[in-house]
Amino acid sequence: MKRIRSVVRGCGSYLPPRLVTNKDLMEFVETSDEWIVQRTGIEQRHIAADDETTSILGIKAAEAALADAGLQASEIDLIVCATSTPDYTFPSTATMIQNGLGIHHGAAFDLQAVCTGFVYGVATADKFLTSGSHKRALVIGAETFSRILDWEDRTTCVLFGDGAGAIVLEAQEGEGTPADRGVLTSHLRSDGRYRDKLYVDGGPGSTKTTGVLKMEGREVFRFAVGMVTDVVRDAFESTQTTAEQLDWFVPHQANKRIITASAEKLGIAPEKVVITVNKHGNTSAASIPLALDTAVKDGRIKRGDLVMIEAIGGGFTWGSALIRW
Ligand code: UT7
Repeated sequence: MKRIRSVVRGCGSYLPPRLVTNKDLMEFVETSDEWIVQRTGIEQRHIAADDETTSILGIKAAEAALADAGLQASEIDLIVCATSTPDYTFPSTATMIQNGLGIHHGAAFDLQAVCTGFVYGVATADKFLTSGSHKRALVIGAETFSRILDWEDRTTCVLFGDGAGAIVLEAQEGEGTPADRGVLTSHLRSDGRYRDKLYVDGGPGSTKTTGVLKMEGREVFRFAVGMVTDVVRDAFESTQTTAEQLDWFVPHQANKRIITASAEKLGIAPEKVVITVNKHGNTSAASIPLALDTAVKDGRIKRGDLVMIEAIGGGFTWGSALIRW
């Protein structure tokens, strides 16, 4: 039976120019390139300049995605920006991006699911587009995590970076089968009992400050593989597809060890796994669209490919989406 699908029209990304290597970090925290690479796979991260806010990164990624899609900004009627590091408490970063793009119609809002934000964003935009209420959406993941790090805490500050990525989704009619292009399924989960494993210790409604990121890394690691493999299996089951049929696995880029352990558990061949965490660290909601854009631009992901995205983040939140590109 025919149905509306949210089809990817284009993607784009942006990394701030300032590059900070593991060796650079050794100048102010007790760490080593060897420890960071061995435990995480991270070699470098990009850090935004003081005047480069999350909305500025988001605008640049969105402009690149629009150019890739061959669309004008005026053709977008929905903007979903996934971020945990908004420019301001309000207005939303999404409305600032909307204004920066010169769009003055439609709807724009932020969505906060930390590192799972982009998966939540894709799932949310998909509901809007498949309901028929909107036609073309920009889904953006944009972060300046460097602003919420404790730069004296070596257990967290070496892990994160800044950046943004975006995709354009367009409502198009499909046949209603897994052969359709577009978002085929999405699976979102959350469980607030895990709040203390990964959180920021401030906020407008509690401390009236921004706060800094706190994480029990080993604990997050312990839960991550099981949780993400569960939601990826849900996506396979609901579309009656298998790991063998998958062309590309594009997970949240937090730690190379989590990525490879998850792929192995799911029976996904290593050559199908897109890894970019070495180049930009954990950019939270921006990490999946940054990885997608890298693999599209270097020719790996092609039109018609079956692509699985998944993530876990603070909350905990976790989720997956299966997309035929
Ligand atoms: O995006 C949201 C999801 N977040 C994640 O996915 C993060 C998940 N967790 C992880 O990626 C890993 O747990 C970490 C990379 C954070 C840590 O790796 P680990 O293998 O779990 O190490 P650990 O926390 O067990 O620490 C091992 C040792 C400790 O020393 P002792 O207690 O064994 O003497 C740490 O103090 O490594 C020490 N350590 C460091 N050493 C050098 C912690 N951070 C550093 C550092 N440099 N930066």
